[in-house]
Amino acid sequence: MVSFLFCQYKTNGMIFCRLVIFLQAIPEIPFQSILRSSTVEAEQVNQLTNYFFLAAAFILALVSGLTIYILLKYTRDNSSSKEEKVLSSIWEIPMIGIPALLVAIFFYLNIRTLNAIHPAIGDEKPDVVITGHQWWWEAYYPGANVSTANEVHLPAGKKILLQMKSADVIHDWWIPQFGNKVDIVPGRNNYITITIKKPGEFYGSCNEFCGAQHAHMRVKVIAQNGEDYDQWLNSLQQPAVSEKTFFAGKKLFIEKTCGNCHRIEGTVGISNSGPDLTHFAARGTFLAGMLENNLTNIENWIRNPQDIKPGAHMPDFLLADSSVYAIASYLNSLK
Ligand code: CUA
Repeated sequence: MVSFLFCQYKTNGMIFCRLVIFLQAIPEIPFQSILRSSTVEAEQVNQLTNYFFLAAAFILALVSGLTIYILLKYTRDNSSSKEEKVLSSIWEIPMIGIPALLVAIFFYLNIRTLNAIHPAIGDEKPDVVITGHQWWWEAYYPGANVSTANEVHLPAGKKILLQMKSADVIHDWWIPQFGNKVDIVPGRNNYITITIKKPGEFYGSCNEFCGAQHAHMRVKVIAQNGEDYDQWLNSLQQPAVSEKTFFAGKKLFIEKTCGNCHRIEGTVGISNSGPDLTHFAARGTFLAGMLENNLTNIENWIRNPQDIKPGAHMPDFLLADSSVYAIASYLNSLK
């Protein structure tokens, strides 16, 4: 359980404080390291980094060795080394040649790696369109015409193209184990090509300060092999299955205008300004990885959105407890 004191200045000069309690702590995530490259592209970048490291280590050893050699040679016996020795000009060839050769080799390796990780796109269509919102991630799959939020499923073992867009301000997509970061700039389409080596779960976050809840803008990537991925994509195309017992919640969802921001396929709610909730209950977390997806947390969120994620675009509808329960139960049934 996590709790903190949330204080606000009121217009009458008073300070109003309340204790905010998270019943569910922010879910833990496994350690993510840029050195554990999980895409072919990240591996190429890390390989180049290793070459740089080796070259830098060689230069460090050479310079340190020569410095020590000269210090020892010319300080022990000062009196005998009065005469000046002029270094033969032949030494200028390796002194200039070796650094120039190293620069040329690394220039070539850099260009080769850049071309490999950022191949020309041409008129290739993206496999997934990622949109950064304040403060969540939208993933749209153009081939299947479906969307999800914050938990992005991607196929493993296949080169894929992601298109990066922003719905508001500048965000930055970064999954450490996938290598490079991509800035997401309003009015601009950026692209990233990745080949995830094998199925697994990977975590990342927004890396460009984008407002009050920048720190709560996590993304989870679930990489699946071809068959599982196709099956998942297929399940997303099916309308949400919700038992009749949740009819009250579904009715309230529409009546309370939730559908003005959220889409639930099969209802009149078709807006994409908030996360798509069609298969909401199939996701492990919500609020961009902030809370575990369970009935209690959904109820808390609907009841006190501004206490849990201050500044988020979700308004407090001042719903009665029974309505909160009905809507939360309905959402919790949307597998
Ligand atoms: Cu989005 Cu920081």
